[in-house]
Amino acid sequence: MFVGISSPTQITSTPFFSNIKIKLNLNNSHQSIQNLAKSPSSSCTGGGSNNNICLCGRRPFLATISTALIPLHQSNASDSFSDDPIAVLNRVHPPRPDWYEEFYAVAMDASMKSYEDEIAGYKSELFANLTTGKAAKILEIGIGTGPNLKYYSNLASGASVVGVDPNRKMEKYAQAAAQASGLPPTKFQFIHAVAEALPVSDASMDAVVGTLVLCSVKDVNKTLQEVKRVLKPGGIYIFVEHVAAEDGTFLKVIQRALDPLQQVVADGCHLTRETGDSISAAGFSSTDIKKVFLSSASLINPHAYGIAYK
Ligand SMILES: C[S@@+](CC[C@H](N)C(=O)[O-])C[C@H]1O[C@@H](n2cnc3c(N)ncnc32)[C@H](O)[C@@H]1O
Repeated sequence: MFVGISSPTQITSTPFFSNIKIKLNLNNSHQSIQNLAKSPSSSCTGGGSNNNICLCGRRPFLATISTALIPLHQSNASDSFSDDPIAVLNRVHPPRPDWYEEFYAVAMDASMKSYEDEIAGYKSELFANLTTGKAAKILEIGIGTGPNLKYYSNLASGASVVGVDPNRKMEKYAQAAAQASGLPPTKFQFIHAVAEALPVSDASMDAVVGTLVLCSVKDVNKTLQEVKRVLKPGGIYIFVEHVAAEDGTFLKVIQRALDPLQQVVADGCHLTRETGDSISAAGFSSTDIKKVFLSSASLINPHAYGIAYK
């Protein structure tokens, strides 16, 4: 989530990290997919972006640039997925160059402080449901650098957390965040995979967590079906997602204009997804969704946050 994020170390209204120093680490230290389990077959129904403005000229131009610079996989609502998490990982999030994955991980680690400070109250309220509900097994989709791991420090003893992310360069940050939060190393596992094919068994998780990730997955609906599949009956899905601004607003016009660029610079992040609607329509037994505008998130507003119950 780069376009428009404002923080002391970050730019506003420009999608480049002009003042962040990037240190490349070309060591691959990722963990392979383990505990493979089948995921339900269903057809891909797309990511839910509702662009109405014709970007006929600009979108192919940006796509050409992105293809030339970065092997970024553009959204394609007609894909269907196999049941093999590795095959799905390679299809929906093909390996990017090391430098790009490192760049994105460093940028996320360096640029999100003011955002995390502002969202902290909302997250604390949501994550309290993990401790009061005594969630024992938690899976976080798109865990990134692990900004939520500090909220797991009061989990019941014996609780474990699995973090899934296709960017291998996120692992060292997530591991460090897990350690800082006091999670024993045996209780945190980073798995290199995508949310469209979660490498865990059906009904095996008490809670699934996802923050700022449905903007980036290739298939929102498939991801939500996977979240439901891996949750135990009565399990909870906690989410905080940025969503499209209201139609007819100036913000929505800007979001539509910058959406193609955002996908290039922020590893597939979409500005105009109606993610709250997708969660409401995903077939959870009930959902509790609220919206908030965050001043630190600039164009990446509003946010939909809440809990869905299987
Ligand atoms: C904007 S970052 C958010 C990271 C973290 N959840 C947070 O709140 O800071 C989006 C994350 O989603 C990951 N991601 C992208 N595509 C994904 C997919 N198909 N499945 C799971 N995670 C994905 C990215 O690698 C990145 O770590």
